[in-house]
Amino acid sequence: MNLLALQQMKARGEKIAVLTSYDASFAALSDKAGVEVLLVGDSLGMTIQGHHSTLPVSLRDMEYHTRCVANGVQNAFIITDMPFGSYQKTPEQAFENAALLMAAGAQMVKIEGGTIMRDTVRFLVERGIPVCGHLGLTPQSVHQLGGYRVQGRDEDAARQLLQDAKALADAGAGMLVLEMVPAALAATISQSVTIPVIGIGAGKDCDGQVLVIQDMLGIYAGKSPRFVRNFMQDASSIEQAIMHYVTAVKDQSFPAPEHSFE
Ligand code: KIV
Ligand code: NA
Repeated sequence: MNLLALQQMKARGEKIAVLTSYDASFAALSDKAGVEVLLVGDSLGMTIQGHHSTLPVSLRDMEYHTRCVANGVQNAFIITDMPFGSYQKTPEQAFENAALLMAAGAQMVKIEGGTIMRDTVRFLVERGIPVCGHLGLTPQSVHQLGGYRVQGRDEDAARQLLQDAKALADAGAGMLVLEMVPAALAATISQSVTIPVIGIGAGKDCDGQVLVIQDMLGIYAGKSPRFVRNFMQDASSIEQAIMHYVTAVKDQSFPAPEHSFE
């Protein structure tokens, strides 16, 4: 799997299945089950480390889990989150830290934020580091946003999100994650850029879907958000649950309206 193939999937209208991954065992299982992209998400701050936000995750944590995942993967494309504080200061800071994640086995790095991140995206991409954007609910800004809530609900916020998506794409971002935005807005954004848009709580009309693996297996100790579906419910093994997830993403039976926001 590679970025070009993922962009061709979007062009063909084939949905992209993405799951988070933090270790070699689950990475190998997801890879075998047909997941095209594994995201080493800073959600590991919650799922692995037991924190209440992604803010305490360090670059060393992300390097370690990226190496673990890379060791388990044959085919899937690996994206690693840049953790809070590792890229916001300057493009140079972002490059230095992104280079460490790429050396650990990432094939793309993901950063949160819109137009403010445009120069950083361009700086990395021009120097050979593919970048995935992340808009909507950006968990590293949870204290600024006032909680884990739907974004882009009013007209101004919706217009700003669309503008941010275009700015990131124009700066050379190769992919975009949209988290907790109304389904209709996510559909518009997906149609407005040529790069794959991966949704989470963003409706069925994105170019692909991502879930946190502990959420979709029903094993997260905390409260899972409403956009999650537990794929373990009708499965007899973890591998089968992941296969069902891939199928549901491809045939657009997930996310259903009850997993989406109006
Ligand atoms: O950290 C993460 O798992 C993520 C996804 C939920 C998009 O950023
Ligand atoms: Na993340």
